[in-house]
Order: sequence, then structure tokens, then C-alpha cells
Amino acid sequence: MTAQNSVDTAQTVTVDQAVTGYAPTEPYLLTPGPITTTLTTKQAMLHDWGSWDGDFNAITAEVRQRLLALANAEQSHVCVPVQGSGSFAVEATLGTIVPRDGKVLVLMNGAYGQRMSKTLSYMGRDHVVIDKGDYAPPTPEEVAEVLASDPAITDVALVYCETSSGILNPVAEIATVVEQAGRRLIIDAMSAFGALPVDARELKFAALISAANKCIEGVPGFGYAIIDRDLLERSEGNAHSLCLDLYDQWVYMERTGQWRFTPPTHVVAAFLQALHEHEAEGGTAGRHARYSRNRDRMVAGMRELGFRTLLDDQWLSPIITTFFSPEHPAFEFRDFYNRLKARGFIIYPGKLTEAESFRIGCIGQLYDAQIDQLLVVVAEVLQEMGVALDA
Ligand SMILES: Cc1ncc(COP(=O)(O)O)c(C=O)c1O
Repeated sequence: MTAQNSVDTAQTVTVDQAVTGYAPTEPYLLTPGPITTTLTTKQAMLHDWGSWDGDFNAITAEVRQRLLALANAEQSHVCVPVQGSGSFAVEATLGTIVPRDGKVLVLMNGAYGQRMSKTLSYMGRDHVVIDKGDYAPPTPEEVAEVLASDPAITDVALVYCETSSGILNPVAEIATVVEQAGRRLIIDAMSAFGALPVDARELKFAALISAANKCIEGVPGFGYAIIDRDLLERSEGNAHSLCLDLYDQWVYMERTGQWRFTPPTHVVAAFLQALHEHEAEGGTAGRHARYSRNRDRMVAGMRELGFRTLLDDQWLSPIITTFFSPEHPAFEFRDFYNRLKARGFIIYPGKLTEAESFRIGCIGQLYDAQIDQLLVVVAEVLQEMGVALDA
């Protein structure tokens, strides 16, 4: 790694946190998670919990109940948390609810759809894909066509917000055709749940998956699935892995109130605090409003500086936005990244196969003050790098 390519870990500066009065001593994370959390969420980890203790079991129970309520799914589904990152929860869900002789249609338009397909290959579960490349959304018509032509397909897997480009996929429309075709829908809502609407009474899904460190604004360490109760009851023996068997985890949790194996106690306690703060902000609607405002302010300011977004406005999620890297010869992503980090902001590299790009997230403890400051420092950094863009 050359000096220019290495990430600068030297001194960083912070930005005043005008709204909450909280200024972290590290840079703000403008990424898809882990994200910048509140001080109170971090403080909730300053206690050592006994994993078998009733006090910790009460935290787990409240977390599970609150997550179900957020999805309006108390009557129809159950919530099963699992240790690990988001991908562990996706693998656990696919392995638990897709029967060993099932077949999954994976809708791919980016890295996380691709990961589901790879996960199914590892598990040896039959699957086919609709691959739309880097970001084009799958259409309900093509999904209906494939389902009509292949009766062996039992399940459809879809990413709600494909975080690799930031696109918001047409989840409701696809759920309708999947239901009409009598198949099950598995939604990777990793970067969507808590900020984008999910109502199990209207959106028909067999399972929906997310993780602690996304829009609820907890810290990383576990994921969870909200699974149709009747389906989970019939899922004994499907799983390919003991650790990732959500049926077994659920049965044990229902019986004992405990996690099967060592839980990430501090992370779960922090997540409960984050859930309280999510509620205080107005729940999903409140968070959607703030993140959308962050996106609108950030995208407008970046466009004024001469950057172009990958996606048209209608597809931009309030989670993360992909920008094309400017073609100017003096623009180099690592250099841009390091200079922004030195001014208190960590952005994210792009994940497109065809074009040079980078991403800026809108989620976490970010408000107008941080977005405005980001735009000021991006302008400064461009000038410093000698990159002049046409606004
Ligand atoms: C949509 C989506 N699915 C899956 C994942 C994988 O999660 P993890 O990196 O926590 O394993 C992510 C991570 O950002 C994601 O955004």
C-alpha cells in the first residue's frame, strides 16, 4: 500500500452536534453501518449482564416484542434474533425456512442479492436468479413470468434497499405477484427496517431480516428475522447448521427466555436503548423523515458541487446514495476519503462493477448540521486536490 493509498489514522476533527448536543470524538460515519450511534446507546453497554439472568432475559423479550410491533406483525409472526452480523441472519433464515428440496428465485441487482445466491450455493439449496446487473430494479412482470414458468420455485428472495447502489426496490409490487403465485417471500430488509415502511398486515412476507447496527441505530453484533409463525413451526429439520438454526433458537428462547449460545449481551442492551430512542423520534415515520431530509440536503449540495448520482431521484433511498467519481485527473478516491476523514467524516467506497463510484450514507446520528458541514468540507477538499467540477 502506498502512502497515498493508505487510510490516514492521524488526527481527526469533529463537528458540533447542534441538535443533540452530542459531539463524538471520532469522525461521523456516513456509511451503511455500523453507523454513528448516540452517546446514550453507547452508555447502555457500560454494564455486564449475566446471559442467564432474568434481567437480561427481560431485555431480550422486550427487544423481540418491540421489533414485532414495529412490523405490525404481533399476530402473524415471531421475532428470532441470532448472534453475528447481518449475513449470518440472512443465511440462518434461508437455511431455516427454505426446505432442503425447495427452490429459491433470487432477485439480484447488486452485492446483497448476489450474496444470497452464493449463500444458497454454499448450503446446496436449489435456486435460480433474475440478475439485473448493478442496479436496475427487478420488475413484478418478470417475477410473475418466471414463477409461472417454474412450478418448482417455492420461495422468492428480495433485497428491500440494495445497499450496494442505494436503490429502493419495488417491494410492495413484487410481494403482490409472489402472493398471487402462491409462493413465499423472504425480504432482506437489512438497511431498510426501521426507516422504510413494513406492515405485515399489508405486505405479505414469510420472513424479513435485519440487523442491530442499521436504521434502529444500535451497534453491530446480532441480526434478527421476523418469521411467519406457522411457517417456523413447520421448519424443524430444515437447517444445515446448528448455530444458524432459527427454529431451534426460537424453540429454546420460547422455553427458557434465553439465547441458545452466548448472546452479545452488551449489544442487546444497547439495542433496547436504541429502540427506545427510535420510538421517541417518531418510530419508522420519524426516522424516514430525518433520513430523507439528510438525503435531499446532501444530494442537492453534492449536485451543486458538480457530482452526479448513479440513480434518478425516484430510485434514491433515504439510506445511502451512490455518486460517480468525477473523471477529473486529479480525483483519486483514497485521497478524497483520507482528506474527508481528517475533517471528521468517513464515507464509503463504491460497489459498482462498471463505473468508478463512492457512496455517502444518510443513516445514524446525522442531522442538518452534519450534512451542511460535510458539504463545506467536500468543497474544501476538492479545492485542495485541484479538482474543479462543472456545477
Ligand atoms: C441489504 C444488506 N444485506 C446484507 C448485508 C450484510 O450484512 P453484514 O455486512 O452485517 O453481514 C448488508 C450490509 O450492509 C446489507 O446492506
